[in-house]
Amino acid sequence: MDLLSYCFRGIQSHMSTNNADNASEKRFIQKCIEPDCQSTFGLDEPVYVCRRCGGLLDIERSSRSSIDPDTLKLWWHQRLSSGLPQDESGVWRFRESLPFPDNTEVVTLKEGNTPLYTARHSADYCRLDALQLKHQGLNPTGSFKDTGMTVAVTQAKSLRSTMAVCASTGNTAASLAAYAARAELPCAILVPADQVSHAKLAQALDYGARVVEIEGNFDACMQLVLELSSEEPIYLVNSINPFRIEGQKTVAIELAEQLNWDVPDHLVVPGGNLGNSSAFGKGFRELLDWGLIDLYPRITVVQAEGAAPFARYFVEQGAGNVQFANEEEPETLASAIKIGAPVSWKKAWRSVNESGGQVITVSEQEIADAKAIIGRDGIGCEPASATTVAGIKKLVASEFIRKDSSVVAVLTGHVLKDTEYVIGYHNRSLRTDRGEQIHATFGNTPLRVPSSRQSLKDALQRVRDESGSR
Ligand code: F0G
Repeated sequence: MDLLSYCFRGIQSHMSTNNADNASEKRFIQKCIEPDCQSTFGLDEPVYVCRRCGGLLDIERSSRSSIDPDTLKLWWHQRLSSGLPQDESGVWRFRESLPFPDNTEVVTLKEGNTPLYTARHSADYCRLDALQLKHQGLNPTGSFKDTGMTVAVTQAKSLRSTMAVCASTGNTAASLAAYAARAELPCAILVPADQVSHAKLAQALDYGARVVEIEGNFDACMQLVLELSSEEPIYLVNSINPFRIEGQKTVAIELAEQLNWDVPDHLVVPGGNLGNSSAFGKGFRELLDWGLIDLYPRITVVQAEGAAPFARYFVEQGAGNVQFANEEEPETLASAIKIGAPVSWKKAWRSVNESGGQVITVSEQEIADAKAIIGRDGIGCEPASATTVAGIKKLVASEFIRKDSSVVAVLTGHVLKDTEYVIGYHNRSLRTDRGEQIHATFGNTPLRVPSSRQSLKDALQRVRDESGSR
């Protein structure tokens, strides 16, 4: 296409943006993912799992989109400078991929549009030529949950729900609390008592959510809300809700756009309840179907050693044992992913399997050290996010990732989400649940000096000497 007709097409397509939701273009259904069921449900039915077989649900287009890839790229790019509230969201900017009419009143905090950083120290640490970090922790509430929550809470409003509910290790709670406040929708949040970082709890409280502390772990909270969601007039916004996945899949689109539609060889994500890895798989699958990309990145999921039912399944699947077994007593200091019964494992399995990725584990020490290295790049993240860099280091060592591959790690949460952990690592007091000491391999303990000019001069000289010897 020559430049003139490209621009003209752009103007035409921009003018017709509001026509894109004509009946055939925006017809979606909810469909059971179980191959021998495939029951379908309308979008206005508040179902979270298949009513017939209990399987997970996907949201699917009932007919192919007629919009061509070049037009889509152009619309999405133009919206970056349009100034309209819907366009300022890095989720709703991609609304042709979302199951809502274009005139939907969306509940947004201008989520998405997160940076893709190059990270020299992290790359060297992993022995890679280059590494990029997609920082989802720079969303409005400090985690990737916002890209899904804007969609789930918008759907809650469309359904005229009277209360939204979630179980959470903290970030979903903070995110729901904020979006529910924007939507003036009452919400209740179930968290495992004494197992959520103070920063996340503080957010949920400040945004006005009712926080219910359950005397049990995250899996117990999840089980309870799932059971109650079919009895009580509540709208469940955990990632088992396929509308959450719809929002989170747009991160794949945004990433592909940032890379000029040339996807990386490897995408590495942390794994907890396994919604995020499910969403990336769906996003890239749709981009392939749409003709926007022509390759699927290998999606690898990294879990903490003590909370790794999916990684165990990956190994056992290879050995022919096909039963998925939950981890009854998950343990990790990366509290965001302290999960033993991930609800979305079948969808995440699809992502890993279709893309040719892996599922691996990393130790508490490996997570802590990788986190400190990401910090040295001036980026920082919460412990769960650092599983990615720790995992990539192992995958390079095992030659699954080549030194010259293009690799993107997804950082899921902000460094300030768990400051107790950070301080504990650097002042050498961080211990696992079993009391094992985490070594501050890259520790950075504050210098404490008497309040005198000479002491300060000595301290500054020490800093100079240290930086010279680095
Ligand atoms: N990283 C962070 C920072 C998280 O908060 C979570 C999950 C994950 C990774 C794992 O993502 O569940 O999609 O595999 N946090 C949930 C919560 C469970 O309640 O905030 P996943």
